[in-house]
Amino acid sequence: MGGLDEDFIQAPEHRPNTKLTNSGDFIFSDEIPTIDLSSDRDKTTIATEIAEACERWGFFQVINHGLPSDLRRRVEKTAADFFILTAEEKRRVKRDEVNPMGYHDEEHTKNVRDWKEIFDFFLQDPTIVPATPEPEDTELRELTNQWPQNPSHFREVCQEYAREVEKLAFKLLELISISLGLSGDRLKDYFKEQTSFLRFNHYPPCPNPELALGVGRHKDGGALTVLAQDSVGGLQVSHRSDGQWISVKPIPDALIINIGNCMQVWTNDKYWSAEHRVVVNTSKERFSIPFFFFPSHKANIKPLEELIREENPPCYKSYNWGKFFVSRNRSDFKKLEVENIQIDHFKA
Ligand code: OGA
Ligand code: NI
Repeated sequence: MGGLDEDFIQAPEHRPNTKLTNSGDFIFSDEIPTIDLSSDRDKTTIATEIAEACERWGFFQVINHGLPSDLRRRVEKTAADFFILTAEEKRRVKRDEVNPMGYHDEEHTKNVRDWKEIFDFFLQDPTIVPATPEPEDTELRELTNQWPQNPSHFREVCQEYAREVEKLAFKLLELISISLGLSGDRLKDYFKEQTSFLRFNHYPPCPNPELALGVGRHKDGGALTVLAQDSVGGLQVSHRSDGQWISVKPIPDALIINIGNCMQVWTNDKYWSAEHRVVVNTSKERFSIPFFFFPSHKANIKPLEELIREENPPCYKSYNWGKFFVSRNRSDFKKLEVENIQIDHFKA
């Protein structure tokens, strides 16, 4: 099995297609829609395009989204400057079992280790979450960010980017609400005291990209994700209709948006939270920056009443976001005996 630590090795059925594992060999698809968010475009037209993308794919890219490209360059540089530090320096801001924010190089997805290192920080500092996943325990906990000393201005750049990406997330939330025939502010209140966070992903070159993954197949748990990827490629999305893996094409300055589990539940399966994964390669490192737009810990997530019809009864039971959030965090932290919690647990 080469020199690869066995923790990283995917089960045969989840390994990437070996033909696609050298950088430069990716066959990028144009199938995933690109949506122009220019402010002079008609909102209803944009909403119609979003509805179609969310139903068929759960993924789309946006251009003319308003997030300044010079800020994006600065945050990408800051992330790269951080990951280049020594392991010892990075571990000074290491996450632990209680505080999930900070540096981490042992992320597990579905109990297999991911070929990457990460740095996470909350949008709101502090962020309030339940102290434990136990349903009967009502104790809360304040979680705070950990900031490295280096690179200088790291924190300022991160916070500036966070404010801009949050604006875009609220704009998308409004458009998605309109696309469902709801009022633009229908979903906004779930995000008072939100638990959103940002992640810097660094995927180093991998000696055995045919056996491991940068991130194993998974669905994002929250409402939606706004992802900035660089030009290397490697993100793959499973098509809703046939489960085929499609490589998302890097488009300079575009952002990738995907629907998370909360949105799938709110829309009672009309919109799709797609499985996705990251393929690594032998020659090029890759960076990406997702913003996970997560509701308040208080939010109880269930299909929206306006979207329930007699012929389309609710397919999910209500679940508390805060409890889901903390139990997910624990299972991502290290290898567990049981697989981590999935939305299927809440299927009615
Ligand atoms: C994630 C994720 C994709 C990427 O971090 O949840 O899916 O391209 N990342 O890095
Ligand atoms: Ni993801």
